[in-house]
Amino acid sequence: MRHFTCVHDIGDLKAALREAFEIKKEPFRYSETGRNKTLLALFFDSSLRTRLSTQKAAMNLGMNVIVLDVNQGAWKLETERGVVMDGDKPEHILEAIPVMGAYCDIIGLRSFARFESKDDDYGEKILNGFIRHSGKPVFSMEAATGHPLQSFADLITIEEYKRVERPKVVLTWAPHPRSLPQAVPNSFAQWTAAAGYELVVTHPEGYELDPRFTAGARIEYDRDKAFDGAHFVYAKNWSAYTDPNYGKILSRDTAWTVDARAMSLTDDAFFMHCLPVRRNMIVTDDVIESPRSLVIPEAANRVVSAQVVLKRLLTDNY
Ligand code: CP
Repeated sequence: MRHFTCVHDIGDLKAALREAFEIKKEPFRYSETGRNKTLLALFFDSSLRTRLSTQKAAMNLGMNVIVLDVNQGAWKLETERGVVMDGDKPEHILEAIPVMGAYCDIIGLRSFARFESKDDDYGEKILNGFIRHSGKPVFSMEAATGHPLQSFADLITIEEYKRVERPKVVLTWAPHPRSLPQAVPNSFAQWTAAAGYELVVTHPEGYELDPRFTAGARIEYDRDKAFDGAHFVYAKNWSAYTDPNYGKILSRDTAWTVDARAMSLTDDAFFMHCLPVRRNMIVTDDVIESPRSLVIPEAANRVVSAQVVLKRLLTDNY
């Protein structure tokens, strides 16, 4: 594996899950693999889980870690080529990327969708810029269109808790006061399809995701029907993907908040969310605090997914 940006990069998913469970059992087994290698974890956007779990994974592999919050202390970066740089951005990303590449062996990158250009977001302009110009293996710590480390951790969690071979998994839209990217639901749909689960995606009309990510899923606009018999409910807000509403909020309907009534329609489903979560917008207090809530095990498994990915990047490239 040269880079890690989506489910296709991980190869055989069953083998990756086996590796994850092996690493979970023995987290320090490969503590020499990253010796004298440096991870640069680069954040254009905020993070709690990704920042901590990726550092922990790298430390378990014996790596050195540099964390840079690009918007706090580094020069403001120009990303457009051809502009006269007489404004407030003193450094161009085309110099900054290879310079950062010179200081490390692997780069982890967080850079969300900006909603300024759908083509730039869905072309993964920033992530691909790092892949093209850094000279180093690059992995996504949530980019414009995907959050593969989260989805890998979600699959590890589902495999740990599932009671049937092919569980019914429901990805449900839920309301949020701000406009959020489609990265998490895109990835979740893509990874659960690759795992062979039955996937139902439910949302108000207008919130259809990019069909390249939801291929194989059933789209159900009636949430009650979607929840019927579900084994896992994965809640997430996202903004509109389809034109002319790309990046817009179309609904704040709290009837879509995941509550005990909705969960009662399921087959005693587990509740999942990537966090951070807005309580009583996305999910009610009682549901997220219930014994069926997996939000903490999911977050804990972020160390495992990051460790599998880093281990593969180290062994395949060094
Ligand atoms: N789930 C997730 O990626 O959390 P952070 O945004 O806090 O990293």
